[in-house]
Amino acid sequence: MVYSSQPETGLTKKVTIQTLKKLKHQREKFVTVALYDAPMAAMAERCGIEVVLVGDSLGMTVLGYDSTIPVTMEQMIYHIEAVARGNRQSLIVSDLPFMTYATPEQAMVNATRVMQAGAHMVKIEGGRWLAPTVTMLSERGIPVCAHIGLTPQSVYKFGGFRVQGRTPESAAILREDALILEGAGADIVLLEGVPAELASQITASLHIPTIGIGAGKDTDAQVLVINDILGLTERPPKFSKNFLKETGEIKGALQRYAEEVKTGVFPADEHIFT
Ligand code: KIV
Repeated sequence: MVYSSQPETGLTKKVTIQTLKKLKHQREKFVTVALYDAPMAAMAERCGIEVVLVGDSLGMTVLGYDSTIPVTMEQMIYHIEAVARGNRQSLIVSDLPFMTYATPEQAMVNATRVMQAGAHMVKIEGGRWLAPTVTMLSERGIPVCAHIGLTPQSVYKFGGFRVQGRTPESAAILREDALILEGAGADIVLLEGVPAELASQITASLHIPTIGIGAGKDTDAQVLVINDILGLTERPPKFSKNFLKETGEIKGALQRYAEEVKTGVFPADEHIFT
């Protein structure tokens, strides 16, 4: 089977980091989906989804683990290659899995592997301690998405999947982390599981785009996991929405999600942490 990347109503040219920066500048929202295989990647392209994330969430959504921690480089590469075969136009972001970027040198080696597998940007989880790593990757031509807030690889340190930045002190740390990571060369900051007001302040303080999940309406983009969009998750998180229930077919679900993000309908109040 050939997974056609011929756009129908979707993307007509390649999305780059410049495209995303321009959209932020024009105050136009863009759309991200975490997905893991060629047919979904092709569908995302046809639905005009600007960014696809090959998330290490695949450990939970595809492989059945109860966290992202067991995910390996080999598993990531297998899925990045599949996604890259199915989609020629979206910007493909790949997670680096747990402990594969504990030092800048280790990050270089592993980021090289995912870029050679077809990713256009790497995503790494953590705050200011990652600044030297971000600079090292960025100076060598590897774009970086810095993921802060509820970083799932730290689930055991947090004691569960808990909203971060709820106290004035922890909110201040996240605001500073975002600025430090931008200064270090990050191209995107992804905010997960933080109060909407904090995400809004961080988004306004940065020149680079923010992508939010469980981070309110005001981030420059939203990301959802494909399993949540399609109602495959047994206990869906508060910030997610089953779009398939409304539309009855997969393409319609992705199109509705994209439309609702772009028009500011999603996330609604019920999906937001205050
Ligand atoms: O791994 C992933 O899919 C993610 C998103 C949920 C942001 O990190």
